[in-house]
Amino acid sequence: MAERERTASGRAGGKVILLGEHAVVYGSPAIALGLTLGAEARAHEASVSTLELGGAEHLPGPESPADEADAARAFRALLSALGAGATGARAKLSIPAGAGLGASAALGVALARAVAALWCAHGVEHGAIARAALAWENVFHGNASGLDTAAAEHGGCLWFTRARGPSALTSAAPLQLLVALVEPGASTRTMVEKVATLRRAEPVRVEHCTSAIAELVERAREAILLGRLGDLGASMNENHELLRALGVSTPGLDRARGVALEAGALGSKLTGAGGGGCVIALVEDGSAAAVRTAWERLGLGWLEAKG
Ligand code: MEV
Repeated sequence: MAERERTASGRAGGKVILLGEHAVVYGSPAIALGLTLGAEARAHEASVSTLELGGAEHLPGPESPADEADAARAFRALLSALGAGATGARAKLSIPAGAGLGASAALGVALARAVAALWCAHGVEHGAIARAALAWENVFHGNASGLDTAAAEHGGCLWFTRARGPSALTSAAPLQLLVALVEPGASTRTMVEKVATLRRAEPVRVEHCTSAIAELVERAREAILLGRLGDLGASMNENHELLRALGVSTPGLDRARGVALEAGALGSKLTGAGGGGCVIALVEDGSAAAVRTAWERLGLGWLEAKG
């Protein structure tokens, strides 16, 4: 029982990407909005480090022996980044994993917070949680931009670039988003590699898409700062078409988006790595119920995100 004497906990939220996924990996800016739901973790001193994951049907860890090994490796990387000793931890998700909602980043930040609270009695240096969570995330995603872990750590509406990290973005009008849970997503690693392969094969076309996405993200930033929700929705729509051109949308995502727009959403797009996962819709009080009903008719569950 001695090893269970000291325990600590941490939590973090998931995220939706309003604009800029994939292009952000190549240096373009992106805008994300934190979710209230995410992950919770508890950690205790132990003689050997162990990690138990639970709480969602699809987790980045225990689907197969290889994934379990990945989760253990990711946890060791996180402990090492924080200079922590042997730790037993449990973490639980309250959002679906593998759906583009930043579940693995939320797990990484929640675990980093719990481990830091356990081992770093005098607090951690600036950036330590982000570095530890990114060390975790890179085991699953290979070339993570850091956007998901920044959104999990800070929440709210964020402007992010790989070079400069996150900064808060204050919207002049409330942002009301609905998130449709469309279908299981492909892994972020697979989708990031898919875009990288296309970029090697057709550098000019992919560069055209990523620069066009960067311009849309800049326009969306202005729209958010000025509270011009119609312009924000239009940028989201164009961003979706560019993501389609990069090959990361699916017929299911396109359909969920199409019905949201028909039901009156100001804008709608896939969110996250794609290959399945979720669609977001920017709505107003007058259109929210119609969008929810349209998705329910397709048999889709949904969540709300506000900023
Ligand atoms: C995944 O949520 C977002 C991607 O841009 C990957 C990344 O930023 O690391 C696809």
